[in-house]
Amino acid sequence: MLDGKVAIIVGGAGQLGRASSLLFAREGAKVMVADVKAADAKRVEDEVKAAGGDAASFQIDVTDPEQSKQLADATLKRFGTIDILVYTPYYPHGSDLIEDVSPANWKKSIDVNLNGAVYCSQSVIRTMKQKRSGRIINISAGASVGAPKMAAYSSSKAALVVFTKCIAAELGPYGITANAIVPGSFGPRERFGQAVLDFVKRRYPLGRLGTPEELANGVLFLASPMADYITAVALPIDGGFTGVLRAYNFGEEPA
Ligand SMILES: NC(=O)c1ccc[n+]([C@@H]2O[C@H](COP(=O)([O-])OP(=O)(O)OC[C@H]3O[C@@H](n4cnc5c(N)ncnc54)[C@H](O)[C@@H]3O)[C@@H](O)[C@H]2O)c1
Repeated sequence: MLDGKVAIIVGGAGQLGRASSLLFAREGAKVMVADVKAADAKRVEDEVKAAGGDAASFQIDVTDPEQSKQLADATLKRFGTIDILVYTPYYPHGSDLIEDVSPANWKKSIDVNLNGAVYCSQSVIRTMKQKRSGRIINISAGASVGAPKMAAYSSSKAALVVFTKCIAAELGPYGITANAIVPGSFGPRERFGQAVLDFVKRRYPLGRLGTPEELANGVLFLASPMADYITAVALPIDGGFTGVLRAYNFGEEPA
């Protein structure tokens, strides 16, 4: 589905970044795996190559706008163009009441979750405009609707959705789409406490965590020709969590 396309996967060493890198390469894309964790990004690069794909890796701290320019330059130098940008990094926020959120925690959340996406988009847009095609996919979060003790994370992720829609409006005339994915909880059970697992079982219609591969399928869809006419969308991939109201179930809990 992505034959010959060049994709930058920012946060490529993470769960979703890795799954997307492997899937994109399997679908014919050349992948630049970018992450602050250089050794982990290189490991993903090696995995892609071991599976027969084409990849490179790049160390980036997304909070520095200069480094996103360097990432775009390195991708152009290595692969000749840029077709797809996927932005996945986030700052592991504390779980604090708003009066306890430190200025440093607040700033870091905005820097990584929002500002980094802005810088990365800015660094690829010139190339995409020249080509009159391109795909930008930003990873938000179900918590972007607003959640207690998650103000820094939720606010930055909500702003990321609006940013994505703003650039979709600007870039549509150039044949560039920009979409967000709004994940529910995904990954191995060990990453979550029992309270979250219980919550997922009760409140997600599908009653389970997602896998990084299931999320990556959505990223691939938005990057592929199947989504040619889709832009400015925030696509939930969350086992139905944000799509239904489970408050009025008259005490009937799913088994
Ligand atoms: N896993 C979930 O349950 C879940 C739920 C909702 C939303 N999300 C969102 O999905 C996205 C991917 O989640 P994940 O579970 O794959 O995360 P992850 O922690 O596995 O991966 C994130 C990657 O981003 C990288 N990163 C962090 N700060 C960076 C920086 N300053 N510069 C460059 N890279 C940096 C990390 O090194 C890591 O490799 C995140 O944006 C997250 O907010 C995840």
